[in-house]
Amino acid sequence: MDCFYVLIAFNPQFSFFEWGFLIDLMMITIIGNLKGGSGKSTVTFNLALWLAQVGKTVVTYDLDLQRTLSDVAQVRQEEKYEPPLVVYTQLNLPQQPLNQSEILIDVGTGNMTEMKRAISLADRVVVPVVPSQADIWSTQRFLYFIASEARGKPPEIFMFINRADTHSNIRESDQAHQALNVLPGVKVLQTRLYQRIVYRRSFSEGLAVFELEPSGKAAKEFKEFAKFLYSSNN
Ligand SMILES: Nc1ncnc2c1ncn2[C@@H]1O[C@H](COP(=O)(O)OP(=O)(O)O)[C@@H](O)[C@H]1O
Ligand SMILES: [Mg+2]
Repeated sequence: MDCFYVLIAFNPQFSFFEWGFLIDLMMITIIGNLKGGSGKSTVTFNLALWLAQVGKTVVTYDLDLQRTLSDVAQVRQEEKYEPPLVVYTQLNLPQQPLNQSEILIDVGTGNMTEMKRAISLADRVVVPVVPSQADIWSTQRFLYFIASEARGKPPEIFMFINRADTHSNIRESDQAHQALNVLPGVKVLQTRLYQRIVYRRSFSEGLAVFELEPSGKAAKEFKEFAKFLYSSNN
């Protein structure tokens, strides 16, 4: 097989605009995919700390029953690393709009009610995709799911390859990228996160990859990814 397949049949039915003033003032980003192990918590954790580093107020929600984000935040707290990561496990948005604030929501399939609610509130959904056929299929199903649950203005959808192969002669990452490119209504980020061992260590240490190995490859790749995601012209 020399390519990944996607099914091109997509007819989003978005329902009514029902966002409030408060939500408009905060950027709400979901990091989601139906597939476990695609890197949702890894990306949420690193992204939250990157946003804090560039001066944003960040609030995260861990709506996945696996509670990986909560666990790593606890490690960080025990080690007294600054800044602490604020993680809530109930989706109650702040009562007051926070200046320059970013809301990151890590969602998993264990809690579908909360996932649906999060999608209905989101400005955008960031989808890490591991380069494999199974992941492409489930990513496509996730796209349908977002379309069926979005309310009002549909969220922007960004997909990117996570755990990309580091050997240039392995072609799965490029093939997966091509498969994502034909999905309707999706922005596929050019920046990829590669398979790097430091991500696993990052969880056990409670540090982002750019804190743990500031001059490592993963740090450089992650910062490029985050800058691209938060640049105005992506
Ligand atoms: N780019 C990467 N390189 C290496 N390991 C990664 C990468 N992204 C995620 N992982 C590892 O994969 C595992 C699953 O990641 P996780 O973020 O928990 O996935 P999810 O939240 O989608 O279930 C973790 O052990 C994590 O350290
Ligand atoms: Mg997770």
